[in-house]
Order: sequence, then C-alpha cells, then structure tokens
Amino acid sequence: MKSFPPYRVQVVKEIPITTRQEREEALARAGYNMFDLPANMVTIDLLTDSGTGAVSAAQEAGAAAADRSYAGSDSWFRFKSALEDLTSFPHLFPVHQGRAAERILFSTALKPGQISLSNTHFDTTRANVELAGAQARDLPCPEAADLDSRDPFKGNIDLGALEETLSGPDGSRVGQVLITITNNGGGGQPVSMANLKAVRALCDRFGVPFFLDAARFAENSWLITQREEGYAGKTPKEVAQETFALADGFVASLKKDAIAPMGAAIGVRDENLAKQCEAILIATEGFRTYGGLGGHDLERVAQGLREVVDPNYLRNRAEETAHFARLINEAGVDIVQPAGVHGLYLNAGRLLQHMPPHGFPGHALACELYLAGGIRCAELGSLYLGTFDDEHNLITPAPFELVRLAIPRRTYTLAHLEYVADVLATIAKNPESVPEYRVTHAPQLLRHFNLKLRQV
Ligand code: F0G
Repeated sequence: MKSFPPYRVQVVKEIPITTRQEREEALARAGYNMFDLPANMVTIDLLTDSGTGAVSAAQEAGAAAADRSYAGSDSWFRFKSALEDLTSFPHLFPVHQGRAAERILFSTALKPGQISLSNTHFDTTRANVELAGAQARDLPCPEAADLDSRDPFKGNIDLGALEETLSGPDGSRVGQVLITITNNGGGGQPVSMANLKAVRALCDRFGVPFFLDAARFAENSWLITQREEGYAGKTPKEVAQETFALADGFVASLKKDAIAPMGAAIGVRDENLAKQCEAILIATEGFRTYGGLGGHDLERVAQGLREVVDPNYLRNRAEETAHFARLINEAGVDIVQPAGVHGLYLNAGRLLQHMPPHGFPGHALACELYLAGGIRCAELGSLYLGTFDDEHNLITPAPFELVRLAIPRRTYTLAHLEYVADVLATIAKNPESVPEYRVTHAPQLLRHFNLKLRQV
C-alpha cells in the first residue's frame, strides 16, 4: 500500500511565481551565483534541507511556551531529555548550529598536525578540522566511485584503507575517526551498522576516538531498517540508539533531522573532553544550558527529535524521494544511485556530455533549472571541488559533475517535485542548448559562496 504523510497542512507560505525574463535578469544580477539570488526570486528552493523543514503545530506550541531562563531553563531540560532518549551520552551541549559544534569539539579533540579520517568530511567539517591545525582525509568505500552501482551502503568508510592508515606510518597521528551519517558529501548515501561496528572495533584496537557527524541520523537509521539484514524488525529509534551507543561522541546539526530552523548539539562520554568543550562553549556560544539558542529553538528541537523517528514519517519521506528519483530517470537524467532520502544528486556530467569540465556542466545545469523553472539548487562538481589557477582557469576537474537537489522536510508536496521533474525533462530534450560558464571572480576563501561567473 502507498504511504502518505502522517500530517496535514495547517499553515502555508506563498511562493514567488516569476517570468523567464525576470529570472534571467535576477541571475545575471547575482553574477550567476545561486547564493546571491534573493529568495523572493526563487519558486522551488532545493538549495538545502537545512533549517528549511516545515515545523509542526506541536513544535510551535512548545516554542510559544518556551522558558528563556539563562540557566537551567525548562526548555533546556526538554532538549536534553529528547537527546538522552536517543543517545545516552552523559555530557550533552546545545550550540547554535552544526559548524559551531564542529569548531568546539575539534578544537579540543584534535591537536595541530593530527589527522581526521572520515567516510567524507562535509565542507564546514573539513574547514573546522583544518582550523584546528589538523588534516582531513576522506576514505570513501570503493563502491561510492561507481555512481550507477546500486550497492545499498555506498556511504560506508573503506575499512581496508582505514586499517591500513591506522596501522601505517601515519597511524600515530590519527586524532579521530569521524563518520558522517548519512554521507552528505558522498551522494547522501547511508552507512551500514556493520560498517559502524567495524569502525568501533578498529578505533578500540588503535586507541582512537570514534565520533559521529549525525546531522541525518534518523534517515540513516531508516535506511538501515530497509536495507540491512537483521534490522527489518527494528524501529528507526532503536537503530538510532544502537548507532549512537557505538560512538565516543557526536556533533549534529539539528537543522536537518530535528526539523528545526536552528540548533545543534555535541555529545561526549569522556569527562575531561566534556569539561574542555564546556569552557569553549561558555566563552564563545553561551551558557551550557542554552548554547546560543533561544528557549523556542530548544523546544522545537526537543519536539522535532520525537517526530523525526516516526516510522510513518520516515517511510513517506523516503518513498517521496524514491518517486522523485523515478520521475527524474524517466525524464532521461541519471542520478547517483540508489536514491537516498534528503536529496538527489544529478549526474550533470553525463547529461551535458558535450560540455568540457571548464564549462562547468553541474553549474550550467543548476543555472538552467533556475532559468527554465525558478528552481534553485547547488553544483557539486568542478566549480566547488576543482582547483584553479590565478586567472580562474580550471586546472584539475572534480571526479564527477553533480548537482544536488536537496529536499526540505515536510515543505513541498509531490506536485512540486513533479514540476521539478517536468522542468528537467524539458532541459534533457535539448541538452546541447545549455550554455557553458566561465569564472570571472573567485576569492581564495569559501570560493563557491562568493563566485561570479559569465555565460559563454
Ligand atoms: N555536517 C553535515 C553532514 C552537514 O550536511 C552540515 C550542513 C553540517 C555538518 C553543518 O551544519 O549547517 O548546521 O552548521 N549541511 C547543509 C547542507 C548546510 O546544505 O548540506 P550547520
């Protein structure tokens, strides 16, 4: 039987409908940079699933009754108890968003010169590892390199490479193993429980702490119940508890799987590490019972964490993404297989085969989606990951030219997703007409947020 969303729409927000001419002018004014487009010129915003989910009446009721006490507020105790229910970490801290959690944990757990090993570091995660003076190394499993392979757990870390690094000449410099669930930088693919358990065993053997970047812990748990042997009878909440129990600590942006506009958390077991994190938290974010969040944020997170592990919600969200993936394939566009949950990653390199990497096929497709249909999304290709010379010419292309269509939680209906697939189908009928782009301005720092380009 088909699933349906376990909620109905009670409050709505109008979305802008624009003409092609208006979009052409807006995108040119933005220097062909999606991050410089005003949101009121965007019809369907698939730039991110972060902080963009629709909140529930129960979340808003909690927010309205929030306690804003500086220390020990009721809202903090509800936030803490929702996290304890899932994670059982003795030391939990609120922070305003995921990257603040990363900065605080890594600046305490990592020493300059050390190495952080991961299935894939998300971009802010990598930046915070590097700001701590350490080096971030990605060890994705070999299956991840084949975009078409339908292997169920392409988010796994390469266990062979992990063991080799831990036992090799660099082993003594490894300061942490960080597993991102689901693997956002790696196509939104899940990590299996078997892989997480094997990481735990290797970290025990080599005496290295094992942390989770758990921004999408509920979606990873759901995919384990669907794809991993022995987990079909477990609830997503039970799988999440088992996942967190394996780790020494976690950072989690709660703007994703707590369906909250703002918020994040740090959890650790080690008391010393907790004390150091707490000192930095208080000095830079806020007191340990609010961490830079308002009482209303703490409440929305607490309630969102309960709603997100509802199997009816997760089943429907995963089925909607899978349906969207089928429509896109029927439109003649390939995606990174198999479909995950929080987004789909289009293989723009294959669709725009005529276009060389220095024409930026991923970015060209993203721009075309905007021009043709007012759809905003982000490139994950040579513009983002390639290397450039001083004149902004591409020297080393990225291995793949992808475009991520992130799907905000509970925000768009199937009709919106069908519209996006229709727009893609129109583009796919005549891919040769999509123009190339050239970079005209590229700052050293945070390049992809501040780029300027021109159409060729
Ligand atoms: N880790 C992962 C895996 C993420 O996807 C993100 C954010 C962060 C950490 C940082 O969290 O935004 O709360 O500071 N990802 C968003 C995205 C921005 O669009 O994928 P944050």
